[in-house]
Amino acid sequence: MISNTRSSTPHSNSFVTLTGYLLVAIVWISSGLFGLYIVAHYGGSFVSSKMEQWNGLFNPNLYDPNYIQATRGMALHFVAGGIILVLGSIQLLEWVRNRFLNFHRIVGRIYIFACLLTALGGLTFIFLRGTVGGPVMNVGFGAYGIAMLICSIQTIRFARIKLVEQHKAWAIRLYALAIGSWLYRMYYGFMFFTGFLPLEAREFRDPIDVFMIFFFWVPNLLVAEFFIRSSTNKLPKSIQLSGSLMLWLVIVFISLATYNVTKGSWGPAILGMFGLY
Ligand code: HEM
Repeated sequence: MISNTRSSTPHSNSFVTLTGYLLVAIVWISSGLFGLYIVAHYGGSFVSSKMEQWNGLFNPNLYDPNYIQATRGMALHFVAGGIILVLGSIQLLEWVRNRFLNFHRIVGRIYIFACLLTALGGLTFIFLRGTVGGPVMNVGFGAYGIAMLICSIQTIRFARIKLVEQHKAWAIRLYALAIGSWLYRMYYGFMFFTGFLPLEAREFRDPIDVFMIFFFWVPNLLVAEFFIRSSTNKLPKSIQLSGSLMLWLVIVFISLATYNVTKGSWGPAILGMFGLY
């Protein structure tokens, strides 16, 4: 998957590989639930013509009938964002790439296209409406969108000129960025449900919010570099092992956060879609 076991020494590298598999599996399950929530909540509001339901406690200005282009940008953003959450993890599976190369290529094109649309949809919204958190959030989310655009272009560019290692490295960076949006909800969900932050409307301008605007995507790029360098054995074994141990903590955090956010927010919306809540 993320690491390349054929080019590495068995023990430390298989531990990194196992950690990578577990991380991707838990990310897939959790971000898949987020994708279902997007379909249930935002898609459901659209289908039942109750667009004002897009506006919630934390994003009161998402829908405004006076800004039809921004709404279109967001709708595109939701559809493409949902596609990314489903497809990203499939692309990382090494056995899928080895056995079904054509499938990998087709899904890869759809994935890159969806990444471009998600980023462009988000940037359109920032440009036309601005984010709930004001200028600092505009800059942070804008930079995040631009980073996604750059990684998408680099990933497809290196695939087309058949520089496989570079293609793989950029694809890992893109994946790390693409899950940032989901991680952002995980972090906040965790802080709300543990009582660290009050579960009430906020303007996203406090020091913790400014920190989170960058924390949800910049460290992801560092984790991506860890996997890229581990897969080519460019990191000392001690760093590979301690890095993997830290990622086990991340796995525990994601499991707890997913449980809480699903219980409090995603779950009711998803069950409601099937008339079960
Ligand atoms: C997999 C990728 C992504 C998914 C699934 C996603 C999903 C969402 C969702 C569901 C919302 C509505 C607010 C909420 O329910 O929390 C939202 C809002 C937003 N997203 Fe994304 N997003 C993704 C990537 C991005 C990227 C790359 C950008 C950068 C341009 C971005 C910028 C925004 C902005 C500016 C908002 C509006 C925030 C506000 O209320 O002011 N998103 N996104």
